[in-house]
Amino acid sequence: MAIRNLRYEGDEILKKQSKIVEEINDKIRELALDMIDTMHKYDGVGLAAVQVGILKQVIVIDLYEEGKKPYIIINPKIIKTEGTQTVEEGCLSFPNKFAKIERPEKIEIEALDENGEKIKIIGEGLLAQAIAHEIDHLNGEVFIQKIIPGTLEVIKPEETK
Ligand code: NI
Repeated sequence: MAIRNLRYEGDEILKKQSKIVEEINDKIRELALDMIDTMHKYDGVGLAAVQVGILKQVIVIDLYEEGKKPYIIINPKIIKTEGTQTVEEGCLSFPNKFAKIERPEKIEIEALDENGEKIKIIGEGLLAQAIAHEIDHLNGEVFIQKIIPGTLEVIKPEETK
């Protein structure tokens, strides 16, 4: 496992559509494990493959809940969403920016896991927010495009320590 280089705001790759993973093999599993390491290193709750420069539909999410392994989500499809929540959000590709945004309160997705098995995830609250945020990345969308106007906070580098 390894830490991969993150792609940051201004990198054109973040605007690109990620491709469906056709075959879940060791290379994809290695990518997912590297993404988990990278997410943990930067204290993120989620990461999409495009953020490490790979245009494939692979997402990892970890809410750091006791006894729960990180989610590995491949080729996700949104089945339905319910309600909305207004939440504070950030992104590892925009390390100094935070803003309020509306996300679904509940989201249901189907996807594949790292073994190619079909999985269904029903997320509420923070999990719903994280899934919606990461699926946006797969579609070339970043949170900053849909924030609630006037809520953007830019943290100066010396304040992030
Ligand atoms: Ni993000």
